[in-house]
Amino acid sequence: MIKYINDERYLTFALAKGRLAEKTMELFKDIGITCSEMEDKGTRKLIFVNEEQHLRFFLAKASDVPTYVEYGAADLGVVGRDTILEEQRNIHEVMDLGFGKCKMCVCGPLEAKELLSKNEIIRVASKYPNIAKDYFANTKQQTVEIIKLNGSVELAPIVGLADVIVDIVETGTTLRENGLDVLETVTDLSARMVVNQVSLRMEHERIRKLINDLNEKRLEGKF
Ligand code: PRP
Repeated sequence: MIKYINDERYLTFALAKGRLAEKTMELFKDIGITCSEMEDKGTRKLIFVNEEQHLRFFLAKASDVPTYVEYGAADLGVVGRDTILEEQRNIHEVMDLGFGKCKMCVCGPLEAKELLSKNEIIRVASKYPNIAKDYFANTKQQTVEIIKLNGSVELAPIVGLADVIVDIVETGTTLRENGLDVLETVTDLSARMVVNQVSLRMEHERIRKLINDLNEKRLEGKF
């Protein structure tokens, strides 16, 4: 169990709101980190405090979590690896939390597969333009035109906006129901814990203890 003494500063966590935040708090409960205020599902509050343990949690839009952590507004964050790669913030990734597993893939109609093996300039739609740009430039050395979209990206190849998409595939249902396939895998994704560079030094002991406690649970097969 983690014990905190009274003159410690508050350690602040930025959590990607929604399922990731819920899973994170479930995991934290196993190592004695709790926040009863957060258990009220109907609340619209964004910041929650555990006075006894000197911990503060806030819920942010996933894509903003790396920003809060880079600037030190949060000491730690929990967010998907997709967001970490896309946002390219100066933060330290310290742990794979093992949940929220999915893949970043190049998807499209099967006919589009041949476009990926030729040196052809194709159109790629994605909510993740940086990940898409990096994959095509550095892994495939293929020149592409990236079109940034904000959601329902699967529409793009269907209505002729793009040849392929770079998007998250979890169960594959969205692709299947829209007649699309995974053409290539870009990378594996899951929830990660990230830390502010200064906090990592200043709060080294508390952060190390947190990681050690989580690692013990991992060894016990909790995640
Ligand atoms: C994500 C992703 C895919 C879908 C994949 O979309 O962009 O569309 O989930 O999941 P599946 O493989 O289990 O079907 P999200 O629900 O985040 O909404 P979005 O369309 O706004 O991106």
